[in-house]
Amino acid sequence: MWAAGETVYHLGFGESRFPTHPKILRALAENADRRSYLPAVGIPELRRAVAEFHSRQLGRAISPEQVIVGPGSKALLFAFQMAAAGATVLPTPSWVSYAPQARLIGRPILRIPSSPHDGHRLHPSKLQEILRQSPHEHHLLILNSPNNPTGGMLEPALLEEIAAICRRQNVLALSDEIYALTAYGRDHASLSSYYPEGTVVLGGISKHLSLGGWRLGTAIVPPGQTGRQLLQAVAKVGSELWSTPSAPIQVAAVTAYANDPELNAYIDRCTRLHAARTRFLWLGLSELDVHCSEPMGGFYLYPNFDHWRGPLARKGVHTSNELAAYLLDTCQIATLPGTDFGAPEQELSLRLSTSYVDLETDQKAANMMALADGAVDEEALMRRHHPGMNELLDRFRNFLASL
Ligand SMILES: Cc1ncc(COP(=O)(O)O)c(C=O)c1O
Repeated sequence: MWAAGETVYHLGFGESRFPTHPKILRALAENADRRSYLPAVGIPELRRAVAEFHSRQLGRAISPEQVIVGPGSKALLFAFQMAAAGATVLPTPSWVSYAPQARLIGRPILRIPSSPHDGHRLHPSKLQEILRQSPHEHHLLILNSPNNPTGGMLEPALLEEIAAICRRQNVLALSDEIYALTAYGRDHASLSSYYPEGTVVLGGISKHLSLGGWRLGTAIVPPGQTGRQLLQAVAKVGSELWSTPSAPIQVAAVTAYANDPELNAYIDRCTRLHAARTRFLWLGLSELDVHCSEPMGGFYLYPNFDHWRGPLARKGVHTSNELAAYLLDTCQIATLPGTDFGAPEQELSLRLSTSYVDLETDQKAANMMALADGAVDEEALMRRHHPGMNELLDRFRNFLASL
């Protein structure tokens, strides 16, 4: 539709769009000539830098031997699912790739149900129930906080309860923390702080450094024998599939993981922008009485339109898929349907990503970064420099008024 010259409000694609930090760009340019195959687990300098970074972030000592890097955390998630036995247990909703990965390797999937009425809160009792009823001997739980699609975060008390259940049932947990540095203000809590012996922490440079296309992800395995065996198994999968992440990228990533005040300030600035932009859309939708929980990190919202089920049905819209298609056709708003995240078909939930709106080109993204230098009047920033976001809210207002 864009190519045909049409206006489309692109809320479909979750990609942080800010310009690459010059220090990281320089590190990549200086290492463009690195062309040898490297160890499957990653180069020692990068494993050390990632271990130090996570030791600071998690507040406990992580050794370089616990680190493996891969071409994106997505590839690592697949390799861990392949390396660990058992059924994959997923909250509902959860990120689009976990379930297809499990299906590709023939793993059963158990879904923890949730409700739009409490913002899709993860209830430990429901996890407990799923595990109790499961016919499978082993289980792999995938958690994600800050969350794509809901924008929510798992708080320490909840993580503690989940950790106790996992420990009792000997569940291996994959904690997808790729959005950890995009948390708005409050501290990010990791399941690994409560269940270090059974949690793998996944991360990478795609989100807080806007480097999705560079394809570099990280995983921290538990300390000791279990973690060592798991890492070896994942390294074997990696070695047969991708050998090692690209050599120049690995060397440049050492800079990305350094505790550099300039880089930290850049990450803060990007996160403040994501927060201002995502909260603006959330506030606007809330004023329209759209049910949507408050975002706490990342750049996503997961509103629910069940309230308009009757009028939508009269327009032929009965599922989230049909709702997404209807919004694109009639209001030029591109979203993803809740079914892509494992929601039941009839639940009228959509995932909105704010990362592209008013940042459609690299130049626009660079300008926005420049505007957010120093103290920022967020209201003025949103009112004056986000025409698309304001227009988008008008379109949502008109859409709801038309029902
Ligand atoms: C929740 C979640 N996990 C993992 C990924 C994959 O990130 P990577 O670029 O490291 O493969 C994404 C990317 O959209 C994501 O949203």
